[in-house]
Amino acid sequence: MNRWKSETGIMLALDVPDRTTAFRLLDRVADEIDVIKFNYPLVLQEGLEIITRVKEAYPRPILADFKIADVPVTNNRIIDLCRRAGADGVMVQGFIGIDAIQSAIAAAGEMKIFVVTQLTNPGGLDFTGRFTGEFAQLARMLGAAGVQAPGNRPEVVKKVREIVGEEMMIACCGIGAQGGKFGGAIAAGGDFEIIGRAIYQAPDPARAAAEIRAAIAPPLKSGTGAGENRRLQPLDPRDLRRGGEGHRGRQGPRTARFGRTGPEGGGKL
Ligand code: XMP
Repeated sequence: MNRWKSETGIMLALDVPDRTTAFRLLDRVADEIDVIKFNYPLVLQEGLEIITRVKEAYPRPILADFKIADVPVTNNRIIDLCRRAGADGVMVQGFIGIDAIQSAIAAAGEMKIFVVTQLTNPGGLDFTGRFTGEFAQLARMLGAAGVQAPGNRPEVVKKVREIVGEEMMIACCGIGAQGGKFGGAIAAGGDFEIIGRAIYQAPDPARAAAEIRAAIAPPLKSGTGAGENRRLQPLDPRDLRRGGEGHRGRQGPRTARFGRTGPEGGGKL
């Protein structure tokens, strides 16, 4: 699996209002970041072409975090548009199911598909938290390049790493503005910490990015995150189905591990 380099561990969430602000920010922080992540607001404001322009100016992998969640025909059109704009990866929701994830991966071709496993907001525990294990298993079984995991719940990142093995990338959000500790998600097994407001709302974004990079460096260097020797057995899709059905009841074993009832469940964000 061809992974993106994690040299600083920072995936910049480029959630600024417009193109001018985006370029001004990138001018200041580009040296501190590994990956640039786009989300809807900037792209809806400026058009998909902003991805193309940013990529020309700052040659870094680009993740289009559109959390795609539709039927395959629509998902795949969005993925195709992202490819044409120059994105290197696209984020899809885990709950779209086996056929849609499989189809997204096929449509992505060389681009990398990341699957959301658990949202970081409190409501992320209401639904996504019940199926985090299944989403991670699905992503691995179907050959996704990576998953998203909640960096403000490092114990969940750790479990997601155990499920997806060492080859897949884990991008962790919920760091900084939402309370996750810088370096905490990488120490738990993540590859990238997604950082937005903690950088672009800082009085001095360049300095903030450099400080965050310094905080991430020790776990990144020590490799505590990767646990590189771990190798998991291939998964049986029937197990996945059985697990899924079990979770339609109130609280199966994995619900207890990942959901509100788990040890990590109650944190306020
Ligand atoms: P901040 O400003 O919170 O930006 O550093 C986070 C970026 O990541 C996107 N994103 C998520 N954020 N929980 C989050 O907090 C999630 O589960 C999640 N998934 C993706 C977010 O939209 C913003 O772009």
